[in-house]
Amino acid sequence: MDENTVTDAVLEQMSSTENPRLKEILAAAVRHLHAFAREVDLTPEEWIAGIGFLTAVGQKCSPIRQEFILLSDTLGLSSVVNSLNDKRVLREIPPQSQDTKSSLLGPFYRHGSPAFEYGQSVAAKTPAAEIAYYGRVQDSSGQGIANATIQVWQTDEGGMYDTQRHDGSEMDMRGTFHTDSEGRYCLRTVRPLSYSVPMDGPVGDMIRAQRRHGMRPAHTHFLISAPGYRELVTALYMSSDEYIDSDTVFGVTSSLATEPKSGDHSSPFPSLPSVRYDFVLVVAAKDAASGRVGADPSQFIKHPVEAAH
Ligand SMILES: [Fe+2]
Repeated sequence: MDENTVTDAVLEQMSSTENPRLKEILAAAVRHLHAFAREVDLTPEEWIAGIGFLTAVGQKCSPIRQEFILLSDTLGLSSVVNSLNDKRVLREIPPQSQDTKSSLLGPFYRHGSPAFEYGQSVAAKTPAAEIAYYGRVQDSSGQGIANATIQVWQTDEGGMYDTQRHDGSEMDMRGTFHTDSEGRYCLRTVRPLSYSVPMDGPVGDMIRAQRRHGMRPAHTHFLISAPGYRELVTALYMSSDEYIDSDTVFGVTSSLATEPKSGDHSSPFPSLPSVRYDFVLVVAAKDAASGRVGADPSQFIKHPVEAAH
């Protein structure tokens, strides 16, 4: 047995795996893990440092924090999975001309955000830099989708998510809206700010060691769903943001870069800088799985067994 033959021995022993997909994934993981160790000539000290790092990542997780998703995001793995899913969806549905690009769910999504009416603000406080988002949720033929659910969440005027403030239990800067009978939506919020991903854990240590800035360009998250359509997980980014081209989690796509415009007379709030954005949902393939690359962190703490499936 040497560092090369052990790979085949492991694959041979695992070949009795019944579930074919599990077999495929674990066999590839073993091949790539072994190749990785050989490529960098991994030492025992480095191996144990890696174990220590992953242990610390797990210990940092809580009902409001998912350090493993942050690790996946900052290594670009989430972005790869997101792109693969977009391609898979395009293979499953008839060619669509202009469906909205998806983006990462990120580590700050929470279930059950408060319900708001058309045009209401998700900000508990009314700060100076208020903006409006408005437009339609429509299908690929341009037909409005009535009563679609729109969940939004973003940073507050100080660049923090609610889960990062106080004990994290209070919900702010997030809400659930519905489109009207024509598919129209409108909401008011604070202009989002660029922000640092959480740097007080092992992923922050990694980012600092790599001399990266750890910043995300300003954005508002949107999770849009309607019966019969593929759930859309996306975000709208502020195109003037200084980090728009160096997002530390690689989530930006050019078609999602927007900028609030003043003096927009078609906005329901013409006195506010407004972003008009029409979201296009595609018809869901039969038995389509969720396209979310991310999850509410509490999912892993309360229901660890279900979350693993
Ligand atoms: Fe975010």
